[in-house]
Amino acid sequence: MTLRSGGRPPGSPARRVAVIGAGYVGLPTAATLAHFGHTVVLAEREPARLDALRSGRMPIVEVGLDDLVAEGVATGSLSFTGSAVEAVRGAEFVFLCVATPQRSDGSADLSFVEAAAKEIATHLEPGAVVVNKSTVPVGSATMVEQVIGRPDVSVVSNPEFLREGTAVVDSLKPDRIVVGADDAAAAAEVAGLFGATGAPLIVTDATTSETIKYASNAFLATKLSFVNALAGLCEEVGADARDVLLGLGYDKRIGFEFLKPGPGWGGSCLPKDTRALLHIARQAGYEFSLLAGAIASNDEQLARVVSKVEEACGGSVDGATLGVWGLTFKANTDDRRDSPSLQIARHLVALGARVQAFDPTVEPQPDPPEDLADLGLCPDPYEAAAKARALVVLTEWDEFRWLDFSRVFSLMARPAIVDARNLLDPSAVRRMGFRYAGIGRQ
Ligand code: UDX
Repeated sequence: MTLRSGGRPPGSPARRVAVIGAGYVGLPTAATLAHFGHTVVLAEREPARLDALRSGRMPIVEVGLDDLVAEGVATGSLSFTGSAVEAVRGAEFVFLCVATPQRSDGSADLSFVEAAAKEIATHLEPGAVVVNKSTVPVGSATMVEQVIGRPDVSVVSNPEFLREGTAVVDSLKPDRIVVGADDAAAAAEVAGLFGATGAPLIVTDATTSETIKYASNAFLATKLSFVNALAGLCEEVGADARDVLLGLGYDKRIGFEFLKPGPGWGGSCLPKDTRALLHIARQAGYEFSLLAGAIASNDEQLARVVSKVEEACGGSVDGATLGVWGLTFKANTDDRRDSPSLQIARHLVALGARVQAFDPTVEPQPDPPEDLADLGLCPDPYEAAAKARALVVLTEWDEFRWLDFSRVFSLMARPAIVDARNLLDPSAVRRMGFRYAGIGRQ
């Protein structure tokens, strides 16, 4: 990826920034702020991750991130430390980019945010601004303010809207910047850090800003649940979902983005944030039944894909060998958190299938991580297809489209494909002799 040269808009000063947490949000955020000319110290407490960064290796798969980080390191704008306390020394702005995992009741676990706030509280510079970038429940800015307990320090909400796989582009050219705070001057200063993006700016109170983040992800999830349910309807009435969605997408009020039917939505954000918003609504005494329906509809979509595989195997997968292509929750990431692909693969195993899986980001290993323990991991897509009664395409890795399908055909026990991403050309594979089932298409 070629980077445009960065820099601040004329007249805007370079600021000293600390970023706490070098994950999917913190790392692109730190590298982007460095690209904009600010001096950024990124704190990562996990030694393996820190070592990787220091030696120029990226701890996550993210297109263009290596170049952006290398640029920051080369210009001296970006440096790394294992200590949050050290990072905040001299910093005017401190971004909290730590994880907010999900508790069993659907609510967000704020213990990492709280711990980070506690750790840095007494070390913050006088007048520093703490920026909550992690997705946090409504009211969290106040919680962080209380934990820090310093009248001279302001807390500002500045949610991220990064998509994994395109986080660098999304950071450099965001659709919008949202900043929420009671302290208008602090909000304006945080907004100024991103002046170089030229993105529309929404300055509001912290509660509204925190709600915007959840509302965005809940809306996207609801849109996809509608799309997947519509694809199911198309199959029943004999319509082609792709053309139906094309017809919808040209309506500017609907748009083409987020209209692809698939195995269901997943990842580290949409499932977690929809459940968290539902939890927030219930706690506030508001029954958000539309959102509850979108979540239930997503579970139905996973089940629909499993049924398609059963159908492709003649009614049951019990005892069947199945080839699976793709385990990450979407292409161009190595993230398998809440991955519909992985959930479907494991569900098939639970139904008695022997699953041979290939994913470009997963190395076959003698002692695989727990989430992969039930699966046979293959070094290439052909091995995954060998002797399979059906091949299930679960993640939309582009490279799957360009494989030698005559070879795949000759390797399989029974040439049936279930394409849960509508990635392949049905007529081309049918011409070769495959049975083909996609989503919402004949
Ligand atoms: C999402 C939001 O898009 C982002 O703004 C927020 O900051 C974090 O959560 P991400 O989790 O990276 O980003 O994934 P995204 O690209 O939004 O996809 C979410 C899920 O929807 C994936 O499972 C994906 O496969 C699925 N999806 C997306 C579809 O099935 N069809 C589509 O058309 C788009």
